[in-house]
Amino acid sequence: MKNRIFSGIQPSGDIHIGNYIGAIRNWAQMMDDYECIFCIVDYHAMAGKYDPKILQQRIMEAATVNIACGLDPDRCAFFVQSHVIEHTELTWMFNCVTPIGELQRMTQFKDKSKHQNQNINVGLLDYPVLMAADILIYKAEIVPVGEDQIQHIELCREIARKFNATFGETFPEPQAHLGKHKRIMGLDGKNKMSKSLNNYIGVLDTDDEIWKKLKSAFTDENRIKKTDPGNPDICNIYSLHDALSEADTISEVNQDCRKGRIGCVDCKKKLHQSLSFHLTPIRDKADFLFNNPDKVQEILKQGAMKSKKIAEETMREVRIKTGFR
Ligand code: AMP
Ligand code: TRP
Repeated sequence: MKNRIFSGIQPSGDIHIGNYIGAIRNWAQMMDDYECIFCIVDYHAMAGKYDPKILQQRIMEAATVNIACGLDPDRCAFFVQSHVIEHTELTWMFNCVTPIGELQRMTQFKDKSKHQNQNINVGLLDYPVLMAADILIYKAEIVPVGEDQIQHIELCREIARKFNATFGETFPEPQAHLGKHKRIMGLDGKNKMSKSLNNYIGVLDTDDEIWKKLKSAFTDENRIKKTDPGNPDICNIYSLHDALSEADTISEVNQDCRKGRIGCVDCKKKLHQSLSFHLTPIRDKADFLFNNPDKVQEILKQGAMKSKKIAEETMREVRIKTGFR
């Protein structure tokens, strides 16, 4: 029996290379060794700014890009959260064992409350409880995510413990799984790459768009002249090389930068080539799927059917344990 993993991504705008390197690429690599369930978490997106008129379009875009990045429907279940309605029922049950103080101290809640201070809704606070329900309804043991989600996974473990202690052993305590590149920085070199800060390279950006963004991207700020030695350890462009380039390019750039033998523009050009190498096949596959949306819809439908079976079974058990029939 393979261990089960679960992970999710919001349909809230362009999927960027931070998502790809920090999450989706790892998911694609785990499909042979684990039983995998991956999800477009549309209810999560509702806690932030979203437009109901284009929600379905966003869901289709996110699904298409994930499949183009390597999710293979024959080796995973891939579906839309709101199609398996049991997630929300379990969320309610978990709400009733989650201390409100735990939710108020979540870093992401605090950050997003600042960011959307006119709309600090209960959903924003409750977000990690829905996330715990996403994971635990499948009794998933491993959750591959980027570093920003660690605190939420810890809370998920606490919710599992609390539920088990109150109603009897039911859920495992899932572990977060972090890849080597768990926090990709944005092009500003200061903040995490994210949709909301607009400091990202999109997986579907064209080569021209990427070059425009790379040209103004921050590098090692202490390096003024081309011949100054640079420090790759603090250079964001180098960290992207480390995540995406071939081993010999990485070591060449590393050594040449320290000796002032390669300038930032040439280093960026090499990165541009690596990005093009990675993203061209993804963009081609995405183009094909955008022209064949019925294929994507069928994948999501099959994924929801597979997942729903497991979710229903868990909810039967949970209803009995909590005294509901
Ligand atoms: P989101 O776009 O917030 O739904 O995130 C989807 C997945 O991508 C989650 O596992 C995040 O942890 C991961 N992720 C998002 N931004 C980054 C980043 N800048 N670096 C690494 N992983 C990220
Ligand atoms: N909160 C995650 C994010 O913003 C997305 C998510 C929702 C998720 N439910 C999940 C990730 C369950 C892992 C497991 O990135």
